[in-house]
Amino acid sequence: MIQFVFLIFALLNSNFIWSGDGMARNNVVKGRLEGKVALITGAAQGIGKEIARVLAREGAQVIIADINDGEGQSAVQNIENSSYVHLDVSNECDWQLVIQKIMNMYSRLDILVNNAGMIGAVDPENGTLEKWKEIQSVDLEGVFLGCKYAIQAMKNTAKNGSIINISSIAWTRGIPGGIAYSASKAAVTNLTKSVAVYCGQQGYNIRCNWISPGFIPTPMLTKYKRNAEEEARFQEYIRSIPLGKMGRPEDIANGVLFLASDESQYITGTELRIDGGVTAWTGIPWTRTN
Ligand SMILES: NC(=O)c1ccc[n+]([C@@H]2O[C@H](COP(=O)([O-])OP(=O)(O)OC[C@H]3O[C@@H](n4cnc5c(N)ncnc54)[C@H](O)[C@@H]3O)[C@@H](O)[C@H]2O)c1
Repeated sequence: MIQFVFLIFALLNSNFIWSGDGMARNNVVKGRLEGKVALITGAAQGIGKEIARVLAREGAQVIIADINDGEGQSAVQNIENSSYVHLDVSNECDWQLVIQKIMNMYSRLDILVNNAGMIGAVDPENGTLEKWKEIQSVDLEGVFLGCKYAIQAMKNTAKNGSIINISSIAWTRGIPGGIAYSASKAAVTNLTKSVAVYCGQQGYNIRCNWISPGFIPTPMLTKYKRNAEEEARFQEYIRSIPLGKMGRPEDIANGVLFLASDESQYITGTELRIDGGVTAWTGIPWTRTN
């Protein structure tokens, strides 16, 4: 009996606390983003939705923002600590309203992931200015507006503010039929560096980095039907990726998690490329042994 009482006493006083997958001794294991508030744009589906899931799993209060209200509402059903808000990233009034709403509800913003994006056919000879402008308004201006309003909200509220912009490996290479997309993604990289330096110089505790994903099967990639010849060429390209396959939304979300967490607190103005090594290779087959 006395042993039993002692055992109960010992258990009550121990610091064995289960959390998620791991158990800690003498330490309460918390998520890597415990207490943080995160806004993720374009998070109703694809990469953004996975980012929302991973950040919420790590303890962040997540705000899923999108223009696809139906998918956005259903995303929050499956992600704990999440809520949905309509936000067209190309609309400045939407940004003002959403940031105000977040401040009213949580009095802080710690993480912004500028993930919303679109692609479209624009080649340098026949592309229309209208389509060019539409893509820039989402893929570039949307990121500028996000950085602008996030800085204003974070500078007095975030402990370790982090802005993460989702670019693409398209920023490093030309896409003859998609110049508006690749140009906007290239611009995002320099915008990110400027934001990072600005925030540092102002003495704000806000970092800004970008992620360049390679090929990830999401609705953006899968909604376009290829003919047999295009499909064969695409598959050949996928096989040429050094890691031999496409990435998963989770691979991008894990990179975002690192940049959002305090583990990366000395990292700003830089790129995290998550592409299976595809841009590391010249593409030249080198079979010589001498
Ligand atoms: N999938 C890939 O292979 C790949 C590769 C490199 C980069 N990326 C980038 O990753 C990001 C996410 O892409 P994805 O593959 O998940 O695409 P996706 O098309 O599956 O999802 C994009 C989301 O953005 C939303 N969106 C579009 N316009 C918006 C606007 N004006 N305001 C708010 N939301 C808007 C859409 O409704 C959708 O939910 C994009 O920035 C994309 O350029 C994707």
